[in-house]
Amino acid sequence: MTSAVAQLYETFPFPSPAEDAPLMDMVADQLPFVLRDGDDLDGWEVLDAGCGTGSILVALARRYPKARFTGVDACRRSLDIARRCAERHGVTNVELVHGTMPELSLQRRFDMAVCCGVLHHLPSPRAGLQWLTEHLTDDGLIYLWLYDAVGEHGRMLDRELVQLLTSPDNPEGGLTTIRDLGLELSLADYGFPVGWTGTALTTAEQDVADADAYLNPVVLPMRFADMPELFAGLPLTWLAADRVFHPGGIGLVDLAGTEAGNGGAVFVRPEDLFDRPGLRERVRELGNLDRLRAIELRLRPTGFEVLAGRGAGLDRCLPRIAGNLLPYGDGPEPGAR
Ligand SMILES: C[S@@+](CC[C@H](N)C(=O)[O-])C[C@H]1O[C@@H](n2cnc3c(N)ncnc32)[C@H](O)[C@@H]1O
Repeated sequence: MTSAVAQLYETFPFPSPAEDAPLMDMVADQLPFVLRDGDDLDGWEVLDAGCGTGSILVALARRYPKARFTGVDACRRSLDIARRCAERHGVTNVELVHGTMPELSLQRRFDMAVCCGVLHHLPSPRAGLQWLTEHLTDDGLIYLWLYDAVGEHGRMLDRELVQLLTSPDNPEGGLTTIRDLGLELSLADYGFPVGWTGTALTTAEQDVADADAYLNPVVLPMRFADMPELFAGLPLTWLAADRVFHPGGIGLVDLAGTEAGNGGAVFVRPEDLFDRPGLRERVRELGNLDRLRAIELRLRPTGFEVLAGRGAGLDRCLPRIAGNLLPYGDGPEPGAR
């Protein structure tokens, strides 16, 4: 982590400086839509890389008491808050480790490595991904949340303006610039109509969200189409899309239509995003990467999730994930008709 990134998170621990902030269930709630029925992660070792103040990590530990969780972060202040948060919720299956990817070596391997909102802040996202892969078991899964360059275009321009008008050594001054420009990050742009958790952000949490959004010195939004190159050559065997986060909500990508007829959650199929039969037909003929491009260009997501793994990892996932494969290695273009 560059010292400027470290300074930002020491000043503005993400997502909340309060240990009694509501937990963020966004990964805990999603795992039943990823993993096969009945998988309660019994005996799993799960890594949360860049766990911040622990909102996602503690929510996972509470939901999956039979698994063990390790949170890693480079920010000591965030880890102190995460520790108190875990104590407050009475979870005992969490260990917290201070360290910086990719320098840190945990000397252990994990069944699942979760990494939300972190890789795009690394000077080399590829080095961070390689580090995650090195810490994965032979059947392990990687679960990533990344900024999507399509929906983040406007914010990146606002961020550039804020940084142009702010001294890089003074993050608190940056907050004044943000306010003077009338900017305020809206979580609705990420599909969260009210806060991350259904509870409105406190003033301190809004400051943290704005500092993360506009003052972070390192941000590299990506696209689904960047994933094959980001993952190329790593000792993994598959790569798949999971969700898109956009101003209209959070959609579960279902390229192969395995969930057609299931109205219990919001599934996104590219053909459903077009009214005209000719356009629907045309988008059906595309390969998976182009079908994901159609989703991105239509919904303009600000964030997206991908899963990757090797060994039996894909068999642990529901068929929807196998229907969302992206090109990887020498295999044929998935989904091409
Ligand atoms: C935007 S926050 C995300 C926190 C958490 N994953 C979440 O989604 O709520 C990014 C976190 O990554 C941490 N971080 C950034 N670079 C890191 C690195 N190289 N190694 C470890 N942690 C890092 C920061 O300290 C910060 O807590």
